[in-house]
Amino acid sequence: MKHLLTLEQLSKEEILDILNLADQLKFQKKNKIDHHILKGKTLGMIFQKASTRTRVSFEVGMYELGGQALFLSSRDLQIGRGESVEDTARVLSRYLDGIMIRTFKQQEVEDLAKYGSIPVINALTDYAHPCQVLADLMTIREFKGAFEGLKCVYIGDGNNMANSIIVGCLKLGMKISVATPNGYEPHPHILEFAKNYPGQFTLTNDVMEASKNGDVFFTDVWASMGQEAEAIERKKIFAGYQINKEVLKVANKDHMVLHCLPAHRGEEITAEVFEMHANEIFEEAENRLHAQKAVLVRLLS
Ligand code: CP
Ligand code: NVA
Repeated sequence: MKHLLTLEQLSKEEILDILNLADQLKFQKKNKIDHHILKGKTLGMIFQKASTRTRVSFEVGMYELGGQALFLSSRDLQIGRGESVEDTARVLSRYLDGIMIRTFKQQEVEDLAKYGSIPVINALTDYAHPCQVLADLMTIREFKGAFEGLKCVYIGDGNNMANSIIVGCLKLGMKISVATPNGYEPHPHILEFAKNYPGQFTLTNDVMEASKNGDVFFTDVWASMGQEAEAIERKKIFAGYQINKEVLKVANKDHMVLHCLPAHRGEEITAEVFEMHANEIFEEAENRLHAQKAVLVRLLS
């Protein structure tokens, strides 16, 4: 593995290796066992969008691994004034050991990897959120013990989260059913990818149909970063695409509910369901730290 740009580019074995290392690093942290594996290494973190979890977990993660992280807001970088990704990549490769980037276009992340000479980590684009889904997979295994035989359900917008969840679930041998309104389906590349997993993937407009016998439920905001102008219209379109008590009545016993956060209670998830599953949701948030530390170790050491 040279970069983490999308989950499609990782093999099942590479994903499992990251998850196993993440479990180990979590254990080491809890037991105060030294793991300064990235001593002297520096990660640059370019943010063109807001972040709470990603920024803090990457920064703390590098610190805990004995390295350091630089927060680079695109508002302050020359890239925000039009300097090309090509030149930025070539310059930053001379100073840093790795780059983490959160931006809009997936192409920008791919270009950074193409023109730079150091590992690049996709920390969310409009297309994908691989770091989040590695943490989600880690959390599923932590609560359920294994992936085999599980049915995942994603309800809501066919956005970056939906795209990466589908790939992660399919690669690890789980079933995944997705319910979105018409016109808000996952990316065509992802639908194409899912064709390689016959019998494991379904797409519908019907929330109840998708949810039947579900073991792991996911949802995400109805309007993502960059879609603020559509928020009011989207509230109408997505009404009903919600994880609530009624939906969970058709789920399997001992189902779990995950949310990448930030959450909009009363929209994609009810406050009641959110609080009932807060234990899982905040473990998921914590696991961002451990999963990303594993990615950093694999890419930077
Ligand atoms: N889930 C997630 O990526 O959170 P942030 O936007 O706060 O980084
Ligand atoms: N789909 C959301 C995820 C936030 C972590 C967004 O892109 O804003």
